[in-house]
Amino acid sequence: MAENIFSKHSRINEIFKDERALYSEFLPEKLPHREKEIDGLAFCFKPLLSGKKPLNAVVVGTPGTGKTVSSKFVLSQLEELSGRAKSLYINCFEFNSRNSVLFLIANFVGAALPRRGLAADEIYSRMLDYMKNCNFVPVIILDEADQLLAKDGEKLLYDLLRLESEKIYFGLILISNDFMLTSNLDARIKSSLRAESIVFEKYSPKQLKDILRERTELAFFDNVLDKNVIDVAAAHSAKLGGDARIGIESLLKAGRIAEKENTNKVSLSHLKKAFSLMDSAVIKKTFPFLSKQEKNLIKLISSFDGVYSGELFEKYSKIQNHLELRQFRAVISKLELMNLISAPLINVKPKGKSKFISLKVPKESLENFIKEKT
Ligand SMILES: Nc1ncnc2c1ncn2[C@@H]1O[C@H](COP(=O)(O)OP(=O)(O)OP(=O)(O)O)[C@@H](O)[C@H]1O
Ligand SMILES: [Mg+2]
Repeated sequence: MAENIFSKHSRINEIFKDERALYSEFLPEKLPHREKEIDGLAFCFKPLLSGKKPLNAVVVGTPGTGKTVSSKFVLSQLEELSGRAKSLYINCFEFNSRNSVLFLIANFVGAALPRRGLAADEIYSRMLDYMKNCNFVPVIILDEADQLLAKDGEKLLYDLLRLESEKIYFGLILISNDFMLTSNLDARIKSSLRAESIVFEKYSPKQLKDILRERTELAFFDNVLDKNVIDVAAAHSAKLGGDARIGIESLLKAGRIAEKENTNKVSLSHLKKAFSLMDSAVIKKTFPFLSKQEKNLIKLISSFDGVYSGELFEKYSKIQNHLELRQFRAVISKLELMNLISAPLINVKPKGKSKFISLKVPKESLENFIKEKT
């Protein structure tokens, strides 16, 4: 009889001790080289421990510098110690309007509102009622806050900051890649935000090495990684912007490739294969937050080398029933804001201006990502 197809997979996994330590949602107990930033965040929220008003924090830095993980780490430590503070994490790629964020906060403090049919002011007043009687102090993380501020986020900040006049305390962390996040805010909002700004610098190759070593010790069995694998992964992530995410993800991919080949060592050649499989950071970060329709549109855009918005709308209407121009424009703006496409207005004779839309991420990465996820 032919060999059973499972017999070659039957060896006990000899590569990963626990690959979850390399997943993006993993919250490590140690965050090397972020001591200063973590202290800065802790300083903001320490007043909560003695029933006082915390400072708000604005966290900025380039991708993969540990902003999200450090903020979550600080708040989980705070919750562990105080029992009075409770944090709500909101990714503004997913929730990017005043309405949707108010809704989440209102429900977080106990309002149990229906998903549809309430205007922002109504949600606000219900949130206020529940906040007054809330037996914990909410700490709200608005991650990718630029996505919100590009829309009606300023109004939302105004809503939140006016809670203070009702003597309601809460904490707020705004996180973004945009170093100028708060510079264009209305002066009144800026002054009542009273935010500590915490800048996350890019990691150096040496720092990346320490981070990767820490994570790989949790993820891989001893002596599985060939000499130089960590160093090369660290150098690669340093070259691509000091981004720890790239290093961690390439090690996970390299480990899986080695596993598939049924070897018990992860070599430099596995790592190099992993590099070539890596998706663009922007795709990885934004794609999970796109709807099916939005994904279809980006796939369609990727089939052109650049296309005017009129022609794109026409083609897209054929695969997307009941599409309104208004909706289409909103999706284009969203994809542009997410840095997935560029859409500059261009003069087209004789009709006037039109958006010229093209993909801003490598087409192959997009295809790889779509293939992997479907
Ligand atoms: N000092 C560190 N120690 C251990 N892991 C880290 C450290 N810094 C970042 N990481 C890991 O690197 C990855 C990226 O970190 P994180 O998501 O916090 O970056 P970010 O600054 O929020 O990036 P982005 O701006 O793209 O959202 C995560 O897997 C995180 O756990
Ligand atoms: Mg982040």
